[in-house]
Amino acid sequence: MQEQADRANEPFRTITATPFTGLFGAEISGVDLNNIDEQTTREIRAALLRYHVIFFRDQDLSPETQAAFARRFGDLNRHPYVKPMDGHPDVFRIVKQPQDTHHFGEGWHTDLSYTETPAMGTLLYGVEVPEAGGDTAFCSLAGAYDALSDGLKDMLSGLKAVYTNANTYSKESRRFQVGVSKGMDVQAAVVKEVEHPMIRTHPETGLKSLYLSPLHFTRFAGMSPEQSKPLYDTVVAHATQPEYTCRFRWQNGSLAFWDNRCTMHYAINDLTGVTRIMQRVTIEGDRPF
Ligand code: SIN
Repeated sequence: MQEQADRANEPFRTITATPFTGLFGAEISGVDLNNIDEQTTREIRAALLRYHVIFFRDQDLSPETQAAFARRFGDLNRHPYVKPMDGHPDVFRIVKQPQDTHHFGEGWHTDLSYTETPAMGTLLYGVEVPEAGGDTAFCSLAGAYDALSDGLKDMLSGLKAVYTNANTYSKESRRFQVGVSKGMDVQAAVVKEVEHPMIRTHPETGLKSLYLSPLHFTRFAGMSPEQSKPLYDTVVAHATQPEYTCRFRWQNGSLAFWDNRCTMHYAINDLTGVTRIMQRVTIEGDRPF
């Protein structure tokens, strides 16, 4: 773990990282993601570990090249409920069409938190984005953790949260109630629950953070939803203060690469009457500890 933590602090030679906020995030420039070598890969990984979410502009990624780039950082996940692109089993498109009111990923969450081994990282690429609207917000769960009082850190370290796929993938979820985008093929889930710690340790850097995914939360282990909600909501309200968040404005050809082990994100549903097409590749993660 120490080796990876050291790597996150080494100076960059092949990329330029411009911090995005005072706390986290960076725009990475000087790199063509279709043409990178081992040193650049190493530096991009270090930038992800240092900044937690990194953004690239003006890239030209096909489904194949986006997946090939992502594979440099780990095994790729095949989404349990969203059909991949034809011929590209590791890539799916997030599509919002003019008539759609539901937006994939609307609400704060970390990817695949309803599974035993949630995603390590996600790479989202803007294929066709509107002139304005449809930004993605990010939250530094590491920064929010650091700012907690010692008393709350102690209390949360003894709690496990129960997450479910029912909130977003059951037949009763908003996605199916308001109508799934015709541009996406999403299967309804057999409902499952999983427990994760409220505070997790980053497996590569040792950094501690909150682990939150309000979109998929149901209760604390051993408590009812009613007993759990006030405390969980308090922690989420703390984490989502402007100091711990940022908002990325998309352009065609932008790529955001986030670390789900220390951030959460929110697809802002402020669009109607326009098309937004994103291409997503997800990297497998470990069981949070
Ligand atoms: C996601 O949660 O993967 C989607 C984010 C977005 O479309 O902005």
